[in-house]
Amino acid sequence: MKILSPSILSADFRHLGEDVKTALNAGAQWVHIDVMDGMFVPQISFGNPVIKALRPDTDAVFDVHLMIEEPGRYIESFARDGADVITVHAEACRHLDRVIQQIKACGKKPAVAINPATPLSVLNYVLDDLYMVLIMTVNPGFGGQSYIPYCSEKVRELKEILKSRNLKTLIQVDGGVNLSTIEEARDAGVDVFVAGSAVFGGDIEANVKALLAKIN
Ligand code: DX5
Ligand code: ZN
Repeated sequence: MKILSPSILSADFRHLGEDVKTALNAGAQWVHIDVMDGMFVPQISFGNPVIKALRPDTDAVFDVHLMIEEPGRYIESFARDGADVITVHAEACRHLDRVIQQIKACGKKPAVAINPATPLSVLNYVLDDLYMVLIMTVNPGFGGQSYIPYCSEKVRELKEILKSRNLKTLIQVDGGVNLSTIEEARDAGVDVFVAGSAVFGGDIEANVKALLAKIN
């Protein structure tokens, strides 16, 4: 089954809890939570208290995308506060394997994100340990950017690699996913679609239904 994971970065924080519930009630399955540190990416977004505040509201999978330098410093705290899938950037970890093992040791699902310019080969030796790979389809840091077309090719290549290695690892895309681009991503073989502005800009319920209709 294809999964829609709305990114709360584009939500209206004045009524975040309500907006997340609206997206989930409309059929979105996960919640994508973008944590930014102002170092790995230019912007600072939010951190543990927001995850902790949302957690009692739902059992939906919390898909926590850590755009922070050396995320190994914070794995335990995000695990404790309610993350289910924890995604770290290959580019931000000096010791990627160690961080993946930390996530597993906390009983959470490990995922690794790679920026558009980062080759798939950084994943070669850790792929067997991953629940999901996040192929960034924009340069991370902001919502509302345009989908970079060559990233679909990376998704296709990854799909082939997973097949040849007999792995069930999920493929996620994040950035510029909207009604005009989601089918291209679907056709490339994506399992989990992150969408921020395309969900939280305007009528949330209608947006979720329209996006789900395109992927299923
Ligand atoms: C970008 C974030 C995304 C962002 C996506 O750095 O990781 O999750 O919120 O926003 P849209 O869907 O608007 O491109
Ligand atoms: Zn994200």
